[in-house]
Amino acid sequence: MRYRVEVHADAHTRLKAMAEDVLRGLGTRPRSLPPKYFYDAAGSRLFDEITRLPEYYLTRTEDALLDRLAPALMRALEPRDVVELGSGFSLKTRRLLEARGGGALRYTPVDVDETTVAASAERLLAEDPALQVHAIIGDFERHLVHVPAPSGRRLVLFLGSTIGNLDAPARQALLAQVRSLLHRGDRLLVGVDLVKDVAVLEAAYNDAAGVTAAFNRNILRVVNRSLGADFQPEAFRHHAWYNAAESRIEMHLVPETRQTVHIRSLDLTVRLEPSESIWTESSYKFTRASTRAMLAAAGLRLDAWHTDVDKRFALALAGPTSRAVAARAPRAA
Ligand SMILES: C[S@@+](CC[C@H](N)C(=O)[O-])C[C@H]1O[C@@H](n2cnc3c(N)ncnc32)[C@H](O)[C@@H]1O
Repeated sequence: MRYRVEVHADAHTRLKAMAEDVLRGLGTRPRSLPPKYFYDAAGSRLFDEITRLPEYYLTRTEDALLDRLAPALMRALEPRDVVELGSGFSLKTRRLLEARGGGALRYTPVDVDETTVAASAERLLAEDPALQVHAIIGDFERHLVHVPAPSGRRLVLFLGSTIGNLDAPARQALLAQVRSLLHRGDRLLVGVDLVKDVAVLEAAYNDAAGVTAAFNRNILRVVNRSLGADFQPEAFRHHAWYNAAESRIEMHLVPETRQTVHIRSLDLTVRLEPSESIWTESSYKFTRASTRAMLAAAGLRLDAWHTDVDKRFALALAGPTSRAVAARAPRAA
């Protein structure tokens, strides 16, 4: 059997976790919603559209870096086991899988969006007869314990600057878990977006076609459908800006006028003033030094650092140091 899927976040568990997150996020100031709830099938499609926007340099730049690096990287590592966190459409992953030259390999995508993972797996399996896919549908912050034992040398991928959506404590907790998936000779390849000119950064999250705004508002549609809420997404303005003190883009939804929102399954009424936004995403930006420090704190050593000529984006290759860091026990699902 070449395709196996484990669902660790079934509909009931997911709804329960979302109810807790929404209650906590909207009940505290500043109000917030966790970015993982952008990604229903429509959210994944909108993100895919974002990746092709002229202003959104991240995907293009990372893809070109992978294109350049893949052959030498795969020759040097010869991985037989590739685990990918937040795999989405696995488009860039294809470059790496193709570059291995066809030996047996097990690919373990870990993502919350089952529809997208299933479609990507089907395409990869059709193209690659030596591939096995063991998909894990779940939250990479909670469910990495379910990643199967390695089938050979392992390469863990965390691409697309998704690590930047986590704040520092969450990054550390996740990287410590990733460290526990690695043995000597295994590697982590992580894509990080770099600190740069504010105008370039802000343009990437404020595209002229309004796709990022639609993606941002989609989180309200997900909450409406899942928890019986009555947000009017179009009554919220998309606002994304670079917070230089924290090295992060912040994405917010700002009510145009006072909004009263009922969330049926939480039996909750929320009143939102135009002066208070809902913070939906952070996208942290890194330097080589901050990436090295972040990896080191999780028991990982920066082995190689690859950037494009404009130093917009970097791929960091890391290996485990002998000093393992205690991985925080993941919360029960
Ligand atoms: C920014 S996209 C990147 C997708 C792809 N890796 C790329 O580079 O284009 C983030 C992906 O991570 C997934 N994701 C976000 N938060 C997640 C979480 N906590 N657990 C599992 N998957 C998550 C989303 O469903 C989405 O596919």
